[in-house]
Amino acid sequence: MRRKLVAGNWKMHGTRAEAAQLLKGIVEGTDRLLAAELLVCPPFVYLFEAAAGLRGSTVAVGAQDVCGEAQQGAYTGEVSATMLADAGCRYVIVGHSERRMIYGESDSRVAAKFKAAQQAGIVPILCVGETAAAHDAGETRAVVRRQLEAVFDAVGIAAFASAVIAYEPVWAIGTGKTATPTHAQEVQAYLRTLVAARDAKIGASLRVLYGGSVKPSNAAELFSMPDVDGGLIGGASLASDDFVAICRAAGRVH
Ligand code: PGA
Repeated sequence: MRRKLVAGNWKMHGTRAEAAQLLKGIVEGTDRLLAAELLVCPPFVYLFEAAAGLRGSTVAVGAQDVCGEAQQGAYTGEVSATMLADAGCRYVIVGHSERRMIYGESDSRVAAKFKAAQQAGIVPILCVGETAAAHDAGETRAVVRRQLEAVFDAVGIAAFASAVIAYEPVWAIGTGKTATPTHAQEVQAYLRTLVAARDAKIGASLRVLYGGSVKPSNAAELFSMPDVDGGLIGGASLASDDFVAICRAAGRVH
């Protein structure tokens, strides 16, 4: 059985004091919640402190991005996967639609980040998802397939034995327009099929998260879908009560 994973993507929010406060609320609220795996992804500058604050808790730390080029060198402004591991990160988000759209990250750059993370022993959370225009044009499957196959081509299917996929329709991110559970299930089952066609065992064990306006009010229904193995939570991960409620919803569904 796949254990559900709930990951909070804080994006570029908060101060050091607010981060500490948020973590405190999450740790207190999720104490003894072992049925689901829990993760927070703060901004880079708060990672060390977050990892220290979460030591001994059930909540892991991840990063929001990583350098795909190298583990060290002349890459001004970048942070390597080795550094993230050193800071206590277990996961890293790669290919978030904000990175793809605002910073022009290509499929091949995302694949390089995926590879660099694994080289340092960090589990990549690969984000895929279609824009509103692609959705309306009926191109959802073609888009997520292209995004996923670019990574298959670069790293091979075996690399997905220690990876997570997050399906995040761009039209649902930060808009309040959550995908219906049926839509998420349909696309996520398709993503699993693409993996399983290359390796049945990896396809069966791979976790596929849903992201895009997950809230306490819709989390349980989304998580009850057979191919929704948890969530990547943006806005609702910034309020500890909401995030805890979402974590609890994941812990209740099997
Ligand atoms: P949201 O963001 O929950 O605020 O829609 C999700 C994400 O971008 O990962």
